[in-house]
Amino acid sequence: MSRKLLSGVVFVLGWMTAAQAVTLEVKNGTSTCIKADLSANFTIIYPISNGTRTVVVPLPESAKEGNGSSCGGAGISPDLVASFGEGHSLGLVFASENLMYRVANLTLSFNLSDTKTFPESSSKEIVVLSSNTSQISAKLNTTYRCKSSSSIRLGSSGMTVTLFNIRLQAYMPSSNLSTNETVCSADIPSTTTAPTTTPVIPTTPVIPTNPEPGNYSVKNSNGTVCLLAKMGLQLNVTYLSKSQNKTIVAITNLQPNRTSFSGTCESTNATLLLTGDLTNLTFTFTLNSSSKTYQLSAVNMSANWEDMAALFSVSNSSLHYLQGTLGRSYMCSVEEVLPVVSTFSINTFDLQVQPFDVRDNKFGPADVCRMQKDNMLVPIIVGASLAGLVLIVLIAYLIGRKRSHAGYQTI
Ligand SMILES: *[C@@H]1O[C@H](CO)[C@@H](O)[C@H](O)[C@H]1NC(C)=O
Ligand SMILES: *[C@@H]1O[C@H](CO)[C@@H](O)[C@H](O)[C@H]1NC(C)=O
Ligand SMILES: *[C@@H]1O[C@H](CO)[C@@H](O)[C@H](O)[C@H]1NC(C)=O
Ligand SMILES: *[C@@H]1O[C@H](CO)[C@@H](O)[C@H](O)[C@H]1NC(C)=O
Ligand SMILES: *[C@@H]1O[C@H](CO)[C@@H](O)[C@H](O)[C@H]1NC(C)=O
Ligand SMILES: *[C@@H]1O[C@H](CO)[C@@H](O)[C@H](O)[C@H]1NC(C)=O
Ligand SMILES: *[C@@H]1O[C@H](CO)[C@@H](O)[C@H](O)[C@H]1NC(C)=O
Ligand SMILES: *[C@@H]1O[C@H](CO)[C@@H](O)[C@H](O)[C@H]1NC(C)=O
Ligand SMILES: *[C@@H]1O[C@H](CO)[C@@H](O)[C@H](O)[C@H]1NC(C)=O
Ligand SMILES: *[C@@H]1O[C@H](CO)[C@@H](O)[C@H](O)[C@H]1NC(C)=O
Ligand SMILES: *[C@@H]1O[C@H](CO)[C@@H](O)[C@H](O)[C@H]1NC(C)=O
Ligand SMILES: *[C@@H]1O[C@H](CO)[C@@H](O)[C@H](O)[C@H]1NC(C)=O
Repeated sequence: MSRKLLSGVVFVLGWMTAAQAVTLEVKNGTSTCIKADLSANFTIIYPISNGTRTVVVPLPESAKEGNGSSCGGAGISPDLVASFGEGHSLGLVFASENLMYRVANLTLSFNLSDTKTFPESSSKEIVVLSSNTSQISAKLNTTYRCKSSSSIRLGSSGMTVTLFNIRLQAYMPSSNLSTNETVCSADIPSTTTAPTTTPVIPTTPVIPTNPEPGNYSVKNSNGTVCLLAKMGLQLNVTYLSKSQNKTIVAITNLQPNRTSFSGTCESTNATLLLTGDLTNLTFTFTLNSSSKTYQLSAVNMSANWEDMAALFSVSNSSLHYLQGTLGRSYMCSVEEVLPVVSTFSINTFDLQVQPFDVRDNKFGPADVCRMQKDNMLVPIIVGASLAGLVLIVLIAYLIGRKRSHAGYQTI
C-alpha cells in the first residue's frame, strides 16, 4: 500500500518555463510593507486512478500578489500571497519578535482540477498544506538573502516547497529593500575565500526552528538496550570564525538522520556519544546507588566545523542536569537550556531519557521536569482561583439575601 504510494513517478513539467525569480510586493495604500524576490519549486504528490504521481512544479514568472495578502496590524499577521496558474497559491505569514522577523507559517494551496499541471488527477480538490518550520529569519530593517535552496516539508505529506534565490523583507520602514542584509547560514562561505561584497550582519545568529527529536539508544555487551534517549538538540556554540575573523555565536540543530550514536553502560555510569556533522557530543550519566537517583553529570563536546579557526573542544564534569529516579525516565517536553561552559550550551526540546535500568527497550514511568510541571500548574491555579472567586461571590450573595430577608421579617 505505502509502497504503491511511494512508487509515484517524478514528472518534471517540461512545458513550464524553468523557475524564474518572481517579484512580489504587498502595500497598504502607498506604503510597502513586504517585498520579495524569490524562486520556488513545489514537489506535489496527487492521486491518479491506479496510484499516485509526483510532479515538480516551479513557481512561474507569471505569479502575482494574490488575495489574502495584507500588511497586517490589529492582531492580523502580515501575509504575502503569491497566486499562480489556475487557482494555486503560496502564502508566507510573517511574525516579529526580539528585533527579528521570520516566516512563521508557509502555506501551499493547489487546485487538482488543473489538469495541465496535474495530468490524470483523479481528484478535483483544492489541497491546502502548511508548515511552520521555515528557516527564514532576519533582523528587522534588514533584507533576508538566501541564494542556496532550502526545502520545507509540508507536514508528513511527503510534499515539499523548495525556495531559492530569495531576497525579501517584511515590516519595511521604506519601500526599498534594505541594503543591510541578513544572509542565511547556507550562503556563508565555509572557507577563507573572498569575503561577500554585501555587508553581512553576523552579530545576532539566525535562530533555527526547533530541532527534530532523534531516538538514540545504547546496548550493553549482551545486546540488551541499557540507555534510551529521545531528544531534539540545539547547540549554542561561540567560536572564532574563519570567514568573519571574529568570535561569533552559532545556533545549530543536531540533525538526527545525520547523527550516529554509540555508548557504554556500566553499573554506576553510562555514556551516550553522538557523532555527526563534524561534531562529537558525549553525555555521561551517573547513578547514585544510595539515593537511587541519576543525573547528567558530564558533557564533552568537540567540533571541527569548516568555519572554525581552530578545533573547538570543551567539557564539564560537574554538572547536575536531568535528574531522575532509578527505574524511571526523565522527561521534559518544554525547552531546557543546559549551560556547559561559557562558550557552549545545549538547548533540549522534547526530551526523554533513561540512562539506567531500562526494561524491555521501553521508557519507564516519567519524572517530569519542573518547568513543565509549572506550566501545567498555571492553568490549575487560574482555574482554582476562578472557582474560589465564584464561591466567594455565591456566599456573599447568600449572606446578603439572608440579611435582607431577616430585615424584611422584623418590619
Ligand atoms: C526547480 O525545478 C526545475 C525544473 O522545474 C529544475 O530545473 C531546478 O533544478 C529546480 N531547482 C531547485 C533548486 O530545486
Ligand atoms: C498506472 O498505469 C499506468 C498506465 O495506465 C502505468 O504506466 C503505471 O505504471 C501504473 N502505475 C502503477 C503504480 O501501477
Ligand atoms: C492600512 O493603513 C491604515 C492607516 O495607515 C490603517 O488604518 C489600516 O488598518 C491599514 N490596513 C491594513 C490592512 O493594514
Ligand atoms: C498556517 O496558516 C494556515 C492558514 O492561515 C492555517 O490553516 C494553518 O493551520 C497554519 N499552519 C501552521 C502550522 O501554523
Ligand atoms: C527600523 O527602522 C525604523 C525606521 O527607520 C526605526 O524606527 C526602527 O527603530 C528600526 N528598527 C530596528 C529594530 O532597527
Ligand atoms: C545599516 O546598518 C547600519 C548599522 O547597523 C545603520 O547605521 C544604517 O543606517 C543601516 N542602513 C540602512 C539602509 O538601514
Ligand atoms: C545483560 O547484562 C546485564 C548486566 O550487564 C544484566 O543486568 C542483564 O540481566 C543481562 N541480560 C540478559 C538478558 O542476560
Ligand atoms: C546562546 O548562548 C549565549 C551565551 O551564553 C546566550 O546569550 C544566548 O541567549 C544563547 N542563545 C540561544 C538561542 O540559546
Ligand atoms: C583578523 O583580525 C585581526 C584583528 O582583529 C587582524 O590583526 C588580522 O590581520 C585579521 N586577519 C585576517 C585574515 O583578516
Ligand atoms: C534528513 O532529514 C531532512 C529533513 O528532516 C531531509 O531534508 C534530509 O534529506 C534527510 N537526510 C538524509 C540523509 O536522510
Ligand atoms: C564508570 O564505571 C566503571 C566501573 O563501573 C569505572 O571503571 C569507570 O571509571 C567509570 N567511569 C567514570 C567516568 O566514572
Ligand atoms: C570525533 O571522534 C572521532 C573518534 O574518536 C575522531 O576521529 C574525530 O576526530 C572526532 N571529531 C571531532 C570533531 O572532534
